[in-house]
Amino acid sequence: MSPTNPTIALADGTQIPVLALGVWQAKDGPETENAVRWALEAGYRHIDTAQAYGNEESVGRGIRASGVPRDEIYVTTKFYPESKDPAAEAERSLDRLGLDYLDLYIIHWPAGGPTWAWPGMETAKDKGFARSIGVSNFSVEELDALLAIADQRPVINQVQFSPFAYRRGLLDACTERQVVVEAYSPLGTGRHLDDKKVAEIAERVGRTPAQVLIRWAVQKDVVVLPKSTHKDRIEENGQVFDFELSDEDMAALDSLDRTGATTEARTDKWWS
Ligand code: A2P
Repeated sequence: MSPTNPTIALADGTQIPVLALGVWQAKDGPETENAVRWALEAGYRHIDTAQAYGNEESVGRGIRASGVPRDEIYVTTKFYPESKDPAAEAERSLDRLGLDYLDLYIIHWPAGGPTWAWPGMETAKDKGFARSIGVSNFSVEELDALLAIADQRPVINQVQFSPFAYRRGLLDACTERQVVVEAYSPLGTGRHLDDKKVAEIAERVGRTPAQVLIRWAVQKDVVVLPKSTHKDRIEENGQVFDFELSDEDMAALDSLDRTGATTEARTDKWWS
């Protein structure tokens, strides 16, 4: 994948690889460790985990087992917002991962409101625990509340994003605010792979439904985090930089949106 493994520039001057392996719901132990190693062997250079996933130690083992140098890999974890102290929790994540810095540290969801954790996130960055800081599951309203108090601006908002959860209002507002969107559940946790329209486009372009959904996200200029624990699927999901979807196919996929171009990150705010 290498020469075609693109990055996006973030507002803080760093670069983030467009394709990441997501490890939500990957079990701690060999399942996560192997998935991370296979992804890095297949050319992925970005791994996305979280304190809440309980698999950071396995992510660290997978990274070391791959033999890929640390400085070639982009590692994200997320602050579990039922904890109190983002900087202290970042240091604990680093211990579990066996790393001495995170590339990206984001608030997992706006539990208790969008602003209280931000000074601690800024401290995590100032102390060198994380090179970039951002958020996840923030609506435009929550992002604006945060921007109003931030000394250092969030550079990422990671949200559920796919043709079926297009959230165009949120994407456009993030872009205006120089916040890059990351797409989690780009395959709808597997549900969208059987959609007729997706299957028809995949068949016509000679690709798989997963590749079509991931490519759609790439062409929206977002970072995309497909999850798999299977070697063949991890490899398949990485083969998305050697073809392009036409404007017609992109428009057909756009029309699958069920969010009404929302500016919200979630309909079910499980934390409130
Ligand atoms: P598994 O981990 O068993 O391979 P999302 O990225 O939207 O969260 O979707 C992840 C789900 O989709 C997981 O259940 C994963 O299963 C499945 N999946 C990931 N990639 C593929 C693929 N290329 N083909 C079929 N299923 C896939």
